[in-house]
Amino acid sequence: MTEQYKERRTVRILAIESSCDETAAAVVENGRSVLSNIIYSQIADHTLYGGVVPEIASRRHIEKINQVIEQALADAGMTLDDMDAVAVTYGPGLVGALLVGVATAKAISYARQLPLVGVHHIEGHISANYIENPELEPPFLCLVVSGGHTHLVKVTDYGRYQILGQTRDDAAGEAFDKVARAIGLGYPGGPKIEKVSHEGNPYAIAFPRARIADGEYDFSFSGLKSAVLNYLNGCRMKNIPIVQADVAASFQQSVSDVLVEHARNAVREYHMDKFAIAGGVASNGTIRAAMEQMCVQEGVHFYHPSPPLCTDNAAMIGAAAYYDFHAGKRAGLDLNAVPNLKLGDS
Ligand code: KG4
Ligand code: ZN
Repeated sequence: MTEQYKERRTVRILAIESSCDETAAAVVENGRSVLSNIIYSQIADHTLYGGVVPEIASRRHIEKINQVIEQALADAGMTLDDMDAVAVTYGPGLVGALLVGVATAKAISYARQLPLVGVHHIEGHISANYIENPELEPPFLCLVVSGGHTHLVKVTDYGRYQILGQTRDDAAGEAFDKVARAIGLGYPGGPKIEKVSHEGNPYAIAFPRARIADGEYDFSFSGLKSAVLNYLNGCRMKNIPIVQADVAASFQQSVSDVLVEHARNAVREYHMDKFAIAGGVASNGTIRAAMEQMCVQEGVHFYHPSPPLCTDNAAMIGAAAYYDFHAGKRAGLDLNAVPNLKLGDS
């Protein structure tokens, strides 16, 4: 850790995350040490509908948030008196879902006179890498692949990002979810596709690997999704049996190849010796293994959070908030949810 952070006093942050369908709270010390990490997953509530229903998500957050915060403090063996700040995701995400976390954090900040730190959700995903890799420091490259985002980012310093590329249409996780629905696997798509892919041949069907002519590091997954849908329709029309595992494995391989190719090009062009992945899709074993292999071939260190820290959680928000806190970033009680918050705007 740099001298700048070594000399500081201990800072404990109560972090809150409610941007989508996980109600989460954590206590994080000095950005890297997770004292507690509570996640209430709403997956069961949304499975029936085949995806996240925003209105249901907001209601569940309201019902669960106080309980989740109390549990996070109890697990850490602490009370609000032991906290130095309260941090919350304020965007991007579902507006109603975000508002529950933001309103709760503001109430705690006001009642306990605690500094309030608003955190960008993607910064949180990137910062998840700091938790289990104490030696990791910027600069490094990071590929953020989640349900709402696909960003290839150069982390130039704590809290400073240069976006090299992003998706032009669907996010990688969104493609997993849509394809899972199309082949009858249902929600949540990513983990289900990964599981069934173990039984399939990743080279059974030649799905496209999209390249964007005017954006070397940009991604596009909607064409791949359409190719899967066309393949399924073609099979149905010609009465060809659909092998679900082969479709899943071939789709997953296509996503993995595109992600790895972009990552390899960026590692070479930017001469970076550290490469990290983050976000829900980063918990995919096939994609992680392919990234790791690329990093070994290119001679760069590979970093990734463990699967529970890849998907949405509040520990990652506490990690990001620590560096924002030291940079003097404070939110006022007028902090609002920003559903389309861009990376670098926070
Ligand atoms: O980061 P995350 O929890 O929430 C967002 O910020 O979006 O990511 C959720 C996304 C979903 O699209 C989900 O299908 C995908 O991550 N995902 C996976 C896996 N686990 C979650 N995708 C592929 N393989 C997985 N094992
Ligand atoms: Zn996320």
